[in-house]
Amino acid sequence: MRKRIVAGNWKMNMNNSDAQALFESLNTTKTVSSTEIIIAPPSLYLSEFASKKCKQIYLAAQNCSDNENGAYTGEISASMLYSIGVKYCLVGHSERRQYQKESDLLLKQKVNALLKNKVIPIFCCGENLDKRKSGDFYQVIQGQIENSLFHLTDSQIKEVVIAYEPIWAIGTGVTASSGQAQEIHAFIRSLLVEKYSLQTADEISILYGGSCKASNAKELFMNRDVDGGLIGGAALDADSFSAIIESF
Ligand code: PGA
Repeated sequence: MRKRIVAGNWKMNMNNSDAQALFESLNTTKTVSSTEIIIAPPSLYLSEFASKKCKQIYLAAQNCSDNENGAYTGEISASMLYSIGVKYCLVGHSERRQYQKESDLLLKQKVNALLKNKVIPIFCCGENLDKRKSGDFYQVIQGQIENSLFHLTDSQIKEVVIAYEPIWAIGTGVTASSGQAQEIHAFIRSLLVEKYSLQTADEISILYGGSCKASNAKELFMNRDVDGGLIGGAALDADSFSAIIESF
């Protein structure tokens, strides 16, 4: 039985008072749901949120170092995240691939560091608009997954959550259609079946991200291979994030 997940990526938004208010508001919202709810606030707030009594919210970091520890000024290690109770960490978000020039190899090392330290990677992949238009998007997604994840053993890959996030849909208001999302999610699952097994592929949650909001979440989530969402803009408001959670 795959985990159903709705994760909110706050990116570099929210000053302290807004962040605290949003957290409190989400933490007191009553959602009777079997869905795993995750928030990925700026890392500055993780420690404090982790020390509060979280009713049903799990924490994710937006990034971590590929190194274990040491002289890496400005970095945060996977073991530090684990030590304060952070359960998940985003890896390979397209904004980091683009602005920080993160490579498939670096992301592979981050995945390794996280798994070694019992933090679950939420591995992001997805094509840009050019690749979507040229039809080369299958190769892009396959390459990202093969290069950063396919060295993992069967039991390791089962720990990973994958998020398909077409770059042309992130923050643009243009969502992949329900059919486009299902097509790629099924493709990703078929890669997992080929490399591992049907049983393994069936245990891995694949989330959709890219302008997912309350008005389109239901249609996206009803697809058999879409196990939830990675939400950006719509996660910055408690009501809209809660409405997405209720869309399952
Ligand atoms: P968006 O962002 O929902 O604002 O499109 C999604 C993401 O980048 O994870």
